[in-house]
Amino acid sequence: MAHAPVPVLTIDGPSGSGKGTISRLVADQLGWRMLDSGALYRAVGYAAGAAGIDLSDVDAVTRCAQTVKIRFQPSQDGGETHVLVNGHDATDELRTETAGAAASAIAVIPSVRQALVDLQLAFRKAPGLVADGRDMGTVIFPDAPFKVFLTASAAERAKRRYKQLKDKGLSVTLAGLQREIEARDERDASRPVAPLKPATGAVVIDTTGMPIEAVVAKVFAVVRP
Ligand code: C5P
Repeated sequence: MAHAPVPVLTIDGPSGSGKGTISRLVADQLGWRMLDSGALYRAVGYAAGAAGIDLSDVDAVTRCAQTVKIRFQPSQDGGETHVLVNGHDATDELRTETAGAAASAIAVIPSVRQALVDLQLAFRKAPGLVADGRDMGTVIFPDAPFKVFLTASAAERAKRRYKQLKDKGLSVTLAGLQREIEARDERDASRPVAPLKPATGAVVIDTTGMPIEAVVAKVFAVVRP
């Protein structure tokens, strides 16, 4: 007898739309695994930079994406998941806006995206997966039964990222951050391969001005109507 496919909830959207926070909360409540696909692109950008590779060198960056070892290490005490890149704990380096910009630069390369496909598919294990990214519902898990697209105004997204980065002790300015976020979103949305856009059938939620619990409730209603 054929087994029912493992359910997937895809949560796509631009940076600062609340994807990371919401995905984590919903995954924990459902008892499902979570895939932070942005961390994979950040890790490749980071590994390439650490190896002295020019990010516009398509062949070298592709080789890096094909060989990089990325390991997610859940914390023992319920804190944040650590990300090991080629054995080095790069959690702090990966969350900077510089790493986000490097990720967005290498994410336009089709062969880099291809190198990360199997890794992402392997996260689909029972009892279910919450997949957070830009192309989860459109490219990686097109057959996912549950799809959400989170968005928010650029000003609000910049404010959220500002608070997140400040809380983590990073030095940033709101105006500079908003400019960087807008440039990154523009690049993510206009690239020919796997552009940022809602998947067909995705429930679009504008989270501007919404408290986190209200967004979680809306996302939950998609999975457990
Ligand atoms: O979500 P996060 O901000 O960590 O993503 C960093 C960058 O990685 C994005 O700006 C985007 O260019 C790229 N990315 C992607 N596809 C995904 C996830 C992230 O292209 N599924």
